[in-house]
Amino acid sequence: MKIKIGNITVFLLDSYDMISKRAAAMVASQVTVKPKSVLGLATGSTPVGMYQELVKMYQKDEVDFSDIRTFNLDEYFPIQQDNEQSYAYYMNQNLFSHINIKKESIHIPNGATSDVGIECDVYDKAMEDAGGIDLQVLGIGNNGHIGFNEPNLHFETGTHVVELDAGTIQANARFFQSESEVPRQAISMGIRNIMNAKKIVLLANGAAKADIMEKMLYGEVSPHVPASVLQLHRDVTVLLDQEAGAKIRSHIK
Ligand code: F6R
Repeated sequence: MKIKIGNITVFLLDSYDMISKRAAAMVASQVTVKPKSVLGLATGSTPVGMYQELVKMYQKDEVDFSDIRTFNLDEYFPIQQDNEQSYAYYMNQNLFSHINIKKESIHIPNGATSDVGIECDVYDKAMEDAGGIDLQVLGIGNNGHIGFNEPNLHFETGTHVVELDAGTIQANARFFQSESEVPRQAISMGIRNIMNAKKIVLLANGAAKADIMEKMLYGEVSPHVPASVLQLHRDVTVLLDQEAGAKIRSHIK
């Protein structure tokens, strides 16, 4: 089912598999229509299925990634790229090593930088020089974060260093041996970087995301729920499975 909530187009889909396929189709169409597309990419559990679909499409010769450029939303700090929990490692495992993207076209904030301030400026400049992001893929944290823009008193604009929320550290501890190993900081695109994308697609699945999806789509726009800012963007598509869309369904019945 497709509904419109304010400016945002929401697809209430049956399953995670359907979210993954639809998101992959959106990315593939973007790349087909504009081979030199600049894609903004997310990590986490949610987009894993989408990346699997994109790899399958590439293997069937349905999409060519040779001219795309990519910018990832975020990376832990400090972390080495070969650490299996780094987002650089994740991207390589889930997508980049399986497709024909050029190495030099991949951008992920450098979590091993010795000067994080410069790294943030360099990242912003690289995005600007690439002409901005054509299609940004987002997940959403249980607390409404997008990228690692945690609930805050104000919206951060450009790429910046973030102190991760206790809840985010706890949620992400599932990927590490123990909670104490989760880095306490991250480098993240800011809200301006995300809002400057020409198109945005946000994916969410599972019951843990039901409350935040209601707040993001029906609540007021506030930095306390960072994803709510997407209500102000002109081209946002949200893809939800049954569980993540449960509260939205109750609004339309
Ligand atoms: C990841 C990112 C985060 C995740 C969010 C949801 O690059 O920017 O905002 O999208 O934490 O994570 P999952 O998908 O693991 O629930």
